[in-house]
Amino acid sequence: MSLNADPAFWAAANTHLTRYGPDFETLIVERAQGSFVYDADDRAILDFTSGQMSAVLGHTHPDIVATVDRQMRSVAHLFSGMLSRPVVDLASRLAALAPGLDRVQLLTTGAESNEAAIRMAKLVTGGHEIVAFAQSWHGMTGAAASATYSAGRKGYGPAAAGSFVIPAPNSYRPRFTHPDGSNDWQAELDDAFALVDSQSTGNLAAFIAEPILSSGGILELPPGYLAALKRKCEERGMLLILDEAQTGIARTGDMFAFQRDGVTPDIMTLSKTLGAGLPLAAVMTTQAIEQKAHERGFLFYTTHVSDPLPAAVGVTVLDVVERDGLVAQATARGDRLKSGLLSLQQKYDCVGDVRGRGLLLGLEIVADRQTKAPGFELGAAIMEEAMRRGLSMNIVKLPGMGGVFRIAPPLTVSDAEIDRGLEIMSDSIGAAVAAH
Ligand SMILES: Cc1ncc(COP(=O)(O)O)c(C=O)c1O
Repeated sequence: MSLNADPAFWAAANTHLTRYGPDFETLIVERAQGSFVYDADDRAILDFTSGQMSAVLGHTHPDIVATVDRQMRSVAHLFSGMLSRPVVDLASRLAALAPGLDRVQLLTTGAESNEAAIRMAKLVTGGHEIVAFAQSWHGMTGAAASATYSAGRKGYGPAAAGSFVIPAPNSYRPRFTHPDGSNDWQAELDDAFALVDSQSTGNLAAFIAEPILSSGGILELPPGYLAALKRKCEERGMLLILDEAQTGIARTGDMFAFQRDGVTPDIMTLSKTLGAGLPLAAVMTTQAIEQKAHERGFLFYTTHVSDPLPAAVGVTVLDVVERDGLVAQATARGDRLKSGLLSLQQKYDCVGDVRGRGLLLGLEIVADRQTKAPGFELGAAIMEEAMRRGLSMNIVKLPGMGGVFRIAPPLTVSDAEIDRGLEIMSDSIGAAVAAH
């Protein structure tokens, strides 16, 4: 019998754990290292989601282990008004990487960083209306949940007053097209903002956006879109908040995804990848916005704000990314992975689209390539086949789209691991298609 079936473990899990989302995987993870997690039978499973899209250095990276050990022995947690060296070091390092965003607040989770960003935007603009994409995910707490539209809106009472939504651009399924059939995202954006203007009561505070919508099915904002979005914000006195929870820290082949577009947001939030799997988040903004917020009495005081332990981890993450050239590596390994995925698209009709950049890629499964009818069941079957063969991948299912695999291995992934993942994907798609 597989040790993953441990009856006592599952009896306790099924009795005592609150079910907070989709079903749990039916395995017990005992340890993890590099690009792999190991189950109770010591079976190695390739982790192509970097944990929850966070473990950019792979699991149990020796430099992170050493930093946690060292910092834990000196100082881990403090009174929230006390400062320590790792906090000031990390703030300075981040500011140097994102010119213009000189002020940094260190927090814990992605949702929390977006709460702080939205709170700051409200205070400095005097408005309260927040616009987001219809396929967004910004977190599970108050303001972040009000700006999250890809899941979880129903059943929890009213969202914040003044929560507006516009469609995210989707080049595979465009809503507005040029005569040649390509995506006319400018027309879509103009149309969407006309609707925002008609709904607004004149209190617009901010637009919050992911540069690549991840939970929304790896929708990449096309070149030029961010600049156009920033203009829309400026015209209305709104701030642009970029949520780089998944795209920040080298993931897309730039340190931050916004750098490709040459558009600096007013506020940027970092989380997931910044702590490489440990809970660490940052809110970055300009001197002018921080000054205004401070003058108006900005308060975002939490238990773990400016804690030295996660800050020290963040410094080490930046050290390793720089030392090991992981920005360039994300591009190189991402190109290898993407060309493998494009080969799968040649081979299998059910692969409707391959998209994304660096090591944040998407593969959309459709039931019919012509009609682009969603292939949810087939996607779920492929995911199961992959897990049986030792590859963990995550699929998102959203209305109006096929099942989209979000493929985001650690930035430290090797060529051989990418090739192994691609081979498993190919076998899994083949097996699922044959069974359907
Ligand atoms: C883009 C983005 N922002 C924010 C969050 C929320 O982060 P957390 O779960 O750490 O609160 C997520 C989580 O998936 C995310 O993908």
